[in-house]
Amino acid sequence: MNTVFVNGELIDRDKAKIDIEDRGYQFGDGIYEVIRVYDGSTFTMKEHMERLYQSAEKMKLSIPYGEEEFTSKLLKLIELNGIGDGIVYVQVTRGVSPRQHHFPAKDVAGSVVAYTKDFPVPVGQMENGVTAKLVEDIRWLRCDIKSLNLLGNLLAKEEAASNGHFEAILHRGDTVTEGSSSNAFIVKDGVIYTHPVTNLILNGITRRVIESLCGKNGIMFQEKTFSVTELLGADEVFIASTTSEVMPVIEIDGKVIGEGKPGAVTKRLQSLFSERIGIETR
Ligand code: PDD
Repeated sequence: MNTVFVNGELIDRDKAKIDIEDRGYQFGDGIYEVIRVYDGSTFTMKEHMERLYQSAEKMKLSIPYGEEEFTSKLLKLIELNGIGDGIVYVQVTRGVSPRQHHFPAKDVAGSVVAYTKDFPVPVGQMENGVTAKLVEDIRWLRCDIKSLNLLGNLLAKEEAASNGHFEAILHRGDTVTEGSSSNAFIVKDGVIYTHPVTNLILNGITRRVIESLCGKNGIMFQEKTFSVTELLGADEVFIASTTSEVMPVIEIDGKVIGEGKPGAVTKRLQSLFSERIGIETR
């Protein structure tokens, strides 16, 4: 069954309609989340929902449901669609109103859409590692908001993908920020480094899980910026996101990273991450 959630109703996907003057459609004026489902159970749902409400607050956007009500609607959607390994995509826009840049009147309700999709765990890529391309980070200065406006990310991803790479690793000048749809990490002398949580990156939920796994398992984790040179000279590089989990990067711009295969620290994190999924979705 292909049921979707549109403005409070669970309906058939074919019956879903979006107004041409929806501000999400016209301006990208909205926010979203991608939440993982493993074997029918959500993973870190609460963290994703909290971030959605935080993004809404930062955008001065009001979500027409409370967090608990919204969460139970999404769980219902997952159940109805019989999702095993997949994702639920959730989007909230500033609603429908005649096109004008300033915000519509307060009584214009936000538009809310959610749908599910099968998404198998990318086992092969996680085992073998992927390649990446360095791309200048030309995005705006509020990358902490999970906004629908992803043009900077899309241009970067396309530059990488059209050259056969899995991800674009972004840098502002010499400083590596994050991936086009992931957070970026290096391992040097047994220590994991990643960009601190600032306006220049998305505070990834997967990143937070990794940080907590490191804390609990005695793996050194430092929120500290690193340069492009440090990236290319790292012992290991990996990226992380809801859909990629802990993904080893074995080559960047043609330069082999470490031994050119997933490193020991990355592999340890992968197995700790899988354990954590097992515990949370049991
Ligand atoms: N992307 N940074 C950016 C720019 C992202 O778009 C994402 C996620 C992340 C990782 O966040 P998380 O661990 O919470 O998934 C970091 C999602 C999956 C997407 O846009 O499809």
